[in-house]
Amino acid sequence: MSISEKKQAWQDTVVAKNIAKAPERKPEFRTTSGIEMERCFTPTFEGYEGYEEKLGFPGQYPFTRGVQPTMYRGRFWTMRQYAGFGTAKESNERYKYLLQAGQTGLSVAFDLPTQMGYDSDAAMAAGEVGKVGVAIDSLADMEVLFDGIPLDQVSTSMTINSTAAILLAMYIAVAEKQGVSADKISGTIQNDILKEYMARGTYIYPPRESMRIITDIFAYCKDCVPKWNTISISGYHIREAGSSAVQEVAFTLADGIAYVDAAIKAGLSVDEFAPRLAFFFNAHNNLLEEVAKFRAARRMWAKIMKERFGAKDPRSMMLRFHTQTAGCTLTAQQPDNNIMRVTIQALAAVLGGTQSLHTNSRDEALALPTEDSVRIALRTQQVIAYESGAADSIDPLAGSFLVESLTDQIEQAAFDYIEKIDRLGGAVEAISRGFQQKEIQDSAYAYQRAIETDEMIIVGVNRFTIQNEPQPELLKIKEEVEIAQKKALTDMKAKRDSAKVQEALKALEAAARGTDNLMPPILQAVKTYATLGEIADVLRGVFGVHRETVVL
Ligand code: 3HC
Repeated sequence: MSISEKKQAWQDTVVAKNIAKAPERKPEFRTTSGIEMERCFTPTFEGYEGYEEKLGFPGQYPFTRGVQPTMYRGRFWTMRQYAGFGTAKESNERYKYLLQAGQTGLSVAFDLPTQMGYDSDAAMAAGEVGKVGVAIDSLADMEVLFDGIPLDQVSTSMTINSTAAILLAMYIAVAEKQGVSADKISGTIQNDILKEYMARGTYIYPPRESMRIITDIFAYCKDCVPKWNTISISGYHIREAGSSAVQEVAFTLADGIAYVDAAIKAGLSVDEFAPRLAFFFNAHNNLLEEVAKFRAARRMWAKIMKERFGAKDPRSMMLRFHTQTAGCTLTAQQPDNNIMRVTIQALAAVLGGTQSLHTNSRDEALALPTEDSVRIALRTQQVIAYESGAADSIDPLAGSFLVESLTDQIEQAAFDYIEKIDRLGGAVEAISRGFQQKEIQDSAYAYQRAIETDEMIIVGVNRFTIQNEPQPELLKIKEEVEIAQKKALTDMKAKRDSAKVQEALKALEAAARGTDNLMPPILQAVKTYATLGEIADVLRGVFGVHRETVVL
């Protein structure tokens, strides 16, 4: 069969079935000149070597062209702005503002004490409460955070790793209080501890114990929270730490391999949990390399899952990912220039087939975004979606000599890295030896040198600069957040049944010392209003804490 005949067959079967379930946005898609924007353009000349195995069709193995048969013609990517600061009430107001402005998914940023397993009244929390995200101490705060937001109608991402099990349990408990059962909620916990050891730093427990918590979440969610994405295997922070695009893909997928290995060793079969693994990548400045990077990552993951792990369910082979535009490219100088950077980066994510997208605000190199800035960031996505035409045909840059070559080269170079990591004993072992960290540091150094020697021009920074720029209006975090949060915590503790709390914490300790799944006792504990710090401390007492590998 020729490619055109195969395409017709694909349209008559896979596409027709998908459209019956989820119709496309419009009956037909045309340019302003009336030219049809075909669903999926394919070579106009026959004999395109390797089309089938290298590209194939959207929604089919190896998914190079996209994970859904109709992609954005059926549903735009989720517009999901990462947000959260101060108290749960302030963040709840920001979420309602964003939903009213048209965003289609929630994404919660937690403050560092919450991410590191400390309550707001802990000595370690001083000065950080409500700073880089919202302060959550107990179920009481989560009830405020989602007040008036129907959890059966919105999907929520939570950027939480070491304490992910606790926040997931709180989310389930809040949904239950809204009358929404756990099998109806959808969302994602980041839950990716390996990149925390490698690049981001919000780890608590040693690797083995952390992997147990993660695989317990996989096991629990497959039975009890089937629409929940149990992990967001992240390359974003690896890239933010200074890696190259190839390293971002390679180290992220190597982490993915480690999680799949761990889940299989924990007794799960690959198709039981793999469909709910998700990913998270960076969209950096080089538009065409970034598009090729996303396409290479999709094809690589499909091959890894099918060939290395023997997955049979096509959903296990689909690399579904969220993208955030690159925070590290935002400049403090001439912040309005960041609007153009973010636009290009967001376009790369869309042309690369992202499922969900956060666009950075122009002022985020200086502070958390103002409402004005975050609205512009969201409108950037909406203009790309509704006005640019980039969402009307699938994988539109396919067939470009440049994009296909970059896709192949990124794939090959990333697989070479994965082979090296395999030889070191896998991602966990390689991280403990500092392998990925060293590679990232070398790339970061080379990038910075290129800027400092003017080999790389950053507009407004080392060229086209302005002296004595006026300072833009920035968001002010209310100083009294820490005081208010501590008072709320004291009041909550005075009202709860302490005996029930202690009983639940004891049951959790017993489970941690044994082999039982940790999610049920954690869920029971959060329902007694045990605090995040109290629960994290029980696990510290049993698992100990991780000490960083010093990379010389
Ligand atoms: N036809 C038919 N169905 C379609 C479709 C189409 N064209 N397009 C989508 N759908 C379906 C999907 O199959 C899905 O249904 P299912 O769940 O039953 O399969 C539903 O519509 C929703 O689509 P997606 O799952 O593709 O979109 P979501 O937005 O719900 O999920 C995700 C995307 C990547 C899988 C998910 O993991 C996610 O939302 N991730 C977000 C992670 C995130 O926001 N992270 C922020 C981190 S911030 C950070 O760390 C940086 C800080 O440290 C600085």
